[in-house]
Amino acid sequence: MSDPKSKNLTWHEGQVSRQDREQKLGQGGCTIWLTGLSGSGKSTLAVAAEKALSDLGKHTYILDGDNVRMGLNNNLGFSPEDRTENIRRIGEVAKLFTDSGAIVFSSFISPYRADRDAVREIMADGDFVEVYVAASLEVCESRDVKGLYAKARKGEIPEFTGISAPYEEPSAPELVIDTGDQSLEQSVAVLIEFLEKSGYLSA
Ligand code: ADX
Repeated sequence: MSDPKSKNLTWHEGQVSRQDREQKLGQGGCTIWLTGLSGSGKSTLAVAAEKALSDLGKHTYILDGDNVRMGLNNNLGFSPEDRTENIRRIGEVAKLFTDSGAIVFSSFISPYRADRDAVREIMADGDFVEVYVAASLEVCESRDVKGLYAKARKGEIPEFTGISAPYEEPSAPELVIDTGDQSLEQSVAVLIEFLEKSGYLSA
C-alpha cells in the first residue's frame, strides 16, 4: 500500500468484527476478480454467478467496469496510468466490500499483471480470487457486442485493449474459465463449485 498523503491518521476498529458479519451471513467474504479482454464475458459471468449465489441465499455485489467508470472513476481514461489508478481504486473498494463479508465480483479488463498483483497484495490471503476469463481476441472480436472492436480497427478508439493496447494474461490465476469453449451455465457451475470447495459458501 502506498503511503497516504494525509498525516496524523488513526485507524478505528469497530465493535463488530468481520467474523461476526460472516457468521450472520453464513459465508466468507471474498473478491472474485474477473480479468479478460473486452467482450470476453466477464460481466455476463458476474451477473449469472451473482444470481446463482443469491438464489443460494448468499450476499453479493458486482463492481463493473463501465458502471464504475460512470461514477467513482469518471475522471479516468484508458492510458496506462489511468488504468492503473482505475484498478487501484477498485481494489480498495473491493477490499472494503470483502471486509463487509460480501462475495464481490469485480469485472474489469485489468490488463496489467502488476496492477492485479497490487490488489492481491493489499488483500488478506485467500480474499482475492483471480479468475481469467480466457476468450481469445478472435472470439471477442467476432462477438463485438458493443461494436467497439470495429471502431478500434478503424482507428476511432485509441489504446483499445487487444488492438492497440496490451493485455497481460495472468500467470497463476486461481481459476481459468474459457467462455469461448463452454456455455454460460457451465462457466457458472465451475465458478460456484470452486467457491463451494474453497469454503467461501459457509462461515
Ligand atoms: S481497464 O482496462 O481499466 O480495466 P475497464 O474494465 O475499466 O478497463 O473498462 C473497459 C470497458 O470500457 C470496455 O468493456 C469498453 O466497454 C470500454 N472502453 C472504452 N474505451 C476502451 C479502450 N480504449 N480500451 C478498452 N476498453 C474500452
